[in-house]
Amino acid sequence: MSGNRLMNLEKILQSQGFGSRKHCQQLIKQGAVLIDGVVASNAKQNLELSGLSFSVFGQEYQYREQVYIALHKPQGYECSHQATHHLSVFDLFDQVLLQRGLQCVGRLDQDTTGLLLLTDDGKLLQALTHPKKHVPKVYHVHCVDPVTEQQLLGLSNGVELRNELGVFAATDVVQLSEYSLKMTIHQGVYHQVKRMLAAVGNKVESLHRAQMGALQLTHLALGQWQYLNDEQVSLLRDPQANLQI
Ligand code: URA
Repeated sequence: MSGNRLMNLEKILQSQGFGSRKHCQQLIKQGAVLIDGVVASNAKQNLELSGLSFSVFGQEYQYREQVYIALHKPQGYECSHQATHHLSVFDLFDQVLLQRGLQCVGRLDQDTTGLLLLTDDGKLLQALTHPKKHVPKVYHVHCVDPVTEQQLLGLSNGVELRNELGVFAATDVVQLSEYSLKMTIHQGVYHQVKRMLAAVGNKVESLHRAQMGALQLTHLALGQWQYLNDEQVSLLRDPQANLQI
């Protein structure tokens, strides 16, 4: 939300991930920055932020005070900047976004697919990942062994997990096929779904996150991502909302 705010061009570029103030000044000096198709040569020029777009080396950018991104995470990517054994989800984004301080909102295992949010908004990240906030997350689980009635009941009634306090219960536990189910969890401890399935005597073969808060993954293809707009971000935590991406 940036209505009626002015900022000078070099600060704008810096805020959007184009590096140090000095580097941004150099970009402007080089003639790399265009506004409305015209080379911007004055680094101190004040610009209205609302609706601002510009290009750098021919690539178009829109000014965003913060970035909120929904990614359909593929398998084989770790949610870590220093991935050790696999690729990093951050490999899917360009340097300009990374320099803004993009972080994952919670983590998915390298072999889990599905909805992953990323943002440079520390407050939203806290709000969505804080254990007390209980943001619902819907998972589709494919199991190694056939799913039994007793296992479904066990997940709904709750299980204990080693080294974690309390009982972990899923809601909306529904069998989808002989080997698969969907369930909603309200915490986000390490390997939670895999450990819950192990606790009821089954094993996860593959895992997919279909929904987080009000945001439902429907048409983003594997590996694709999109920006969320202000309205989508503000509705993320609204239990009545149903946002499809
Ligand atoms: N639970 C898991 O076990 N793994 C994930 O990636 C997410 C939830």
